[in-house]
Amino acid sequence: MSFQNTREFARRLDSEDTLGHYREEFLFPQHNGKNVIYFTGNSLGLQPKRTKKYVDDIMNDWANLAVEGHFYAEKPWWDYHERFAEPLSKIVGAKPSEVTVMNTLTVNLHLMMVSFYRPTPTRYKIICEEKAFPSDQYMFQSQVISHGLKPEDVIVEIKRREGEHNIRLEDILATIEEVGDQLALVLIGGVNYYTGQVFDIKTITGAGHTVGACVGWDLAHAAGNIKLELHDWNVDFACWCSYKYMNSGPGNASGCFIHEKHHNSNLPRFAGWWGHNKERRFKMEPEFSPVVGADGWQISNLPVLSLAPYLASVEMFAEIGMEPLIQKRDKITSYLEFILHEISKEVAGTFEIITPQNPSERASQLSVFFHGEGRPLFDYLMKNGVVTDWREPNVIRFAPVPLYCSFEDMYEFGQILKQGIIA
Ligand SMILES: Cc1ncc(COP(=O)(O)O)c(C=O)c1O
Repeated sequence: MSFQNTREFARRLDSEDTLGHYREEFLFPQHNGKNVIYFTGNSLGLQPKRTKKYVDDIMNDWANLAVEGHFYAEKPWWDYHERFAEPLSKIVGAKPSEVTVMNTLTVNLHLMMVSFYRPTPTRYKIICEEKAFPSDQYMFQSQVISHGLKPEDVIVEIKRREGEHNIRLEDILATIEEVGDQLALVLIGGVNYYTGQVFDIKTITGAGHTVGACVGWDLAHAAGNIKLELHDWNVDFACWCSYKYMNSGPGNASGCFIHEKHHNSNLPRFAGWWGHNKERRFKMEPEFSPVVGADGWQISNLPVLSLAPYLASVEMFAEIGMEPLIQKRDKITSYLEFILHEISKEVAGTFEIITPQNPSERASQLSVFFHGEGRPLFDYLMKNGVVTDWREPNVIRFAPVPLYCSFEDMYEFGQILKQGIIA
């Protein structure tokens, strides 16, 4: 499609957008009486208006029923998480029994490591990407140390080639083959938080299995953003947070996928009473007998006040379906890319998009390296109602989230950016 850098053209795209009305379902911070241009849905999604009712319902049930709410609330609290199985499984391409919601992301990664990282004297290495999200790096290091091993002997980082911004699939596959029999686990972020690069989850998972390793994914930047087929791709496990593309609120609960092939395999796990056989849970028996399925990894009784916004979001995603979201995502991301190129011509090319150009290797994020521009440009954008984030040394990330960003936002942003660079 050929784009134009004009307000009229952007408005035309908005008028053709079948998801356009969802923008009205979100609360935007205001700048000079107008909605901000919000590019940080890859960090914290906006609040859907419908969410408040889900939280209020729980507050009201708590007020009116107190402890009885566990069983007699309209959505009883004791099995509240089961409401996620159907809609969430569709978002990540799983069977309902393969997904659960619990804890927070890094905590769930630790729990999955307990089950899926079982080093032996000969098979103990972990492959991850260079510059993985810091929490993942600390998680790897502390897990390895807890097994009495040294991170430098165990962790193999796949590097970017000199002068390149993204990691090549061929380098990941070659490293998996090279580590071979020593490889215990591959665990990579499905979408890189810094560059927005989307990894080929299916191919990498297959390659890890070929050498006898487990393969898990941190899907923080992937859930609700890219097409996932976790069951069919034979992924062993995956975890994601819900506060980015899934709009469930700051620091909120995590989702977790465990492939059905592991449900009866007696993997070691850290257990708690909410993972215990549902019918027998309140018999208070001393021996743990897990629920069969991802729910068997639950530990504590549910923080329903934090699950409520997540349920609101998951139901919204179920209503829309991933396919239309992905179609708009690709169109609006391409339009943003076009706008950036147009502005770059007008201001003598001071910036470079470091996210892959190939639409199959990117999703709802463009990371831009600003040569010769520094933090003042970022500050200028923020002061002018463009909410983005800054990553050292000189990168600004833009996520034109399809649920609530408009094409006109992209046009408007281009004009503000131009002024910021010229100023
Ligand atoms: C890729 C990735 N992994 C892990 C985390 C840590 O998430 P949490 O603080 O919910 O554990 C984040 C947070 O932004 C992230 O982006």
